[in-house]
Amino acid sequence: MICWRICTLSKTAKRILPATLKDNAIRKFLEEENLKRPILLSMVASAAVVLLLAGCHHAPKSKPLSQLTPTEMQGHAIFQSDCAVCHHPNSEQKLVGPGLLGLFQKPYLPSGAPATDARVRSTILHGKNVMPPFGNVLNDQQLNDLLAYLHTI
Ligand code: HEC
Repeated sequence: MICWRICTLSKTAKRILPATLKDNAIRKFLEEENLKRPILLSMVASAAVVLLLAGCHHAPKSKPLSQLTPTEMQGHAIFQSDCAVCHHPNSEQKLVGPGLLGLFQKPYLPSGAPATDARVRSTILHGKNVMPPFGNVLNDQQLNDLLAYLHTI
């Protein structure tokens, strides 16, 4: 008799319990969702702002070869013969050295040094680690032409 009582009691308990548990879980879920919503909204909003800002940062764009001045064209020829074995002029991908696309359109060189004429000129003249020096290879005129070309990539 007692056994039967316990049995039916636990049966009703089992029937009621999951229902209340479910209710609680739903309420908790809804409460959490309500709390989450403003956080989610602000996350979406900031993601939108980041995307907008990213849109302002244009990918580097080279001047088309057909539009190069004679000086820049001279520089292009020097680049092809002396630099292109190790550097892509139209990509940021590494070859032997870093890709040089947008070299002077960015504030910093691949090494982190400021992207100035003086810095690049000195790298070309004296070399850098694996990069050989070109001080004895290029005269002033050729160096100027090369720099003019580097400003177009
Ligand atoms: C034998 C391969 C090689 C050749 C040829 C070469 N470079 Fe490099 N260059 C490199 C490597 C490697 C680096 C990275 C050096 C480092 O930071 O350790 C580099 C770095 C550079 C940098 C970035 C410097 C910095 O501070 O981030 C510039 C600009 C550059 N080279 C321009 C040129 C130009 C212009 C020529 C042609 C006159 C040239 N390189 C020829 C291998 C080369």
